[in-house]
Amino acid sequence: MEKREIRSRVYWLGVVDWDRRLFDSLVPLPDGTSYNAYLIQGSAKTALLDTVDPAVTEMLLAQLADVPEVHYIVSQHAEQDHSGSIPHVLAKYPQAQVIATEKGKDLLMLHLGIPAERITAVADGEELSLGDRTLRFLHTPWAHWPETMSTYLVEERILFSCDLFGSHLATSDLYVTDEGLAYEGAKRYFAEIMMPFRRFIQRNVDKVRALPLDLIAPSHGPIYGRPEFILEAYRAWLADAPKNVVVIPYISMHGSTRLMVQRLVSALVARGVTVHQFDLAATDIGKLAMALVDAATLVVGTPTVHVGPHPNVAYAAVLANVLRPNLRYAAVIGSYGWGTKAVEQVAGMIPNLKVEILGTVLAKGAPTAADYAALDQLAETIAAKHREAGLA
Ligand code: FEO
Repeated sequence: MEKREIRSRVYWLGVVDWDRRLFDSLVPLPDGTSYNAYLIQGSAKTALLDTVDPAVTEMLLAQLADVPEVHYIVSQHAEQDHSGSIPHVLAKYPQAQVIATEKGKDLLMLHLGIPAERITAVADGEELSLGDRTLRFLHTPWAHWPETMSTYLVEERILFSCDLFGSHLATSDLYVTDEGLAYEGAKRYFAEIMMPFRRFIQRNVDKVRALPLDLIAPSHGPIYGRPEFILEAYRAWLADAPKNVVVIPYISMHGSTRLMVQRLVSALVARGVTVHQFDLAATDIGKLAMALVDAATLVVGTPTVHVGPHPNVAYAAVLANVLRPNLRYAAVIGSYGWGTKAVEQVAGMIPNLKVEILGTVLAKGAPTAADYAALDQLAETIAAKHREAGLA
C-alpha cells in the first residue's frame, strides 16, 4: 500500500497485515492487524513516527523511497512491531536522530543495538519544532511498556498514540468507518494489552482528554476521526465497577463438567445475570479476555486430570491472572473420577486476582441431584453478591 495523506504534509505509512493470525506468539488475531507509521513534514524538518514490524521493513522503505530526508525518527514504543525497522531507516538516513523517552532509549539500545549517540531522550511535555509544525511528547507509561509515549501534533490537533487506543484490525479504510467493528477490535486490544495496567492507562487517558483533539492516530488499526468514540469506550472499560456479568471458561472430558456448567448458566440467567460461557477446547482466548473486561465474577469449570485441573483450564487461569481483570468474585466447579486437588491448584494460579471466593461445587462422577442443587445455590449466591454490590 502506498502512503496516504491525512493532512497536508502529514501521511500514514505502514503495513496492513491481513494474514497475521497470532501476535507475540500469544494473542489471536482473527481480523489481522496493522503497523502504522506516520510521516510529518514541517517547513524545516521531517519526522517519522514509529516504523513497522521487522518482517515487513521492505514495504516501509518502499514508501520512503521518494522522501529525501528524515531528520527525526520518533520511537514511541520500543516493542519491535513499531521499532523493529528503525535500524534500517537509520541506515537510509545517516543524519537522522531517534527521539524516545529515557527508558525508551535504554530499551532501543538493548533490543535493537542502536548506538546511544543516535538517540535523544525527551521529557514529558517537551516539544520539538519541525518549522511550522510542533511535536509535543506525552509520556504514557505502561501503554504498553514502561517507556511508552504518545506524540501530539499541536497545529493539527492530532494525537499519535501508538499502542494506546490501538486495535488489531486489518482494513483498507484509513479511518474508522464501522464503529461496531472498530469497537470489537479495540476492546480485544484493550483486554490483552491495556487491562493489566488499568491505573496507568486511566492516567494516560486523563492526560489525553485534556487536549483539543481532531484525530487520534494509533499505531495499530484505523485512525479515529471521532476521538470521542474511543475515549468513551475506554471510559467504560476502565470503570471502577464491573458489570452484572459472569464469565465461565470450562472444559469437559466426559460430559459431567459440561452438564454442571449448563445448569449453572441456566440458574444465573434465571436470576438476571449475564453469562459468557467459553469451551476451552475451541475458544479464541481473545474473546475470553474481552468478556473479562466487564465481568464481576469468574467461574472456572474443570474436570480433574491426574489430580489437578485440565491443562487448558490451567492456561486460562494463568492468562486471567496475567490480564488482571476487574473481577470481584470467583468460584470453581467441576468433576473428578476418584480424587482431586483441582480447586487448590486453580486457586494457586490466580494470586493477582483480588477476588472473594464464593464456593466450589465438585461432583464425583456424573452430577447428582445434590450437585445440581449446590449449583443453584451458587447461582443464588453470585446473584445476591452482584445485587449487594449495586451491579444488578
Ligand atoms: Fe504494538 Fe506493545 O506493541
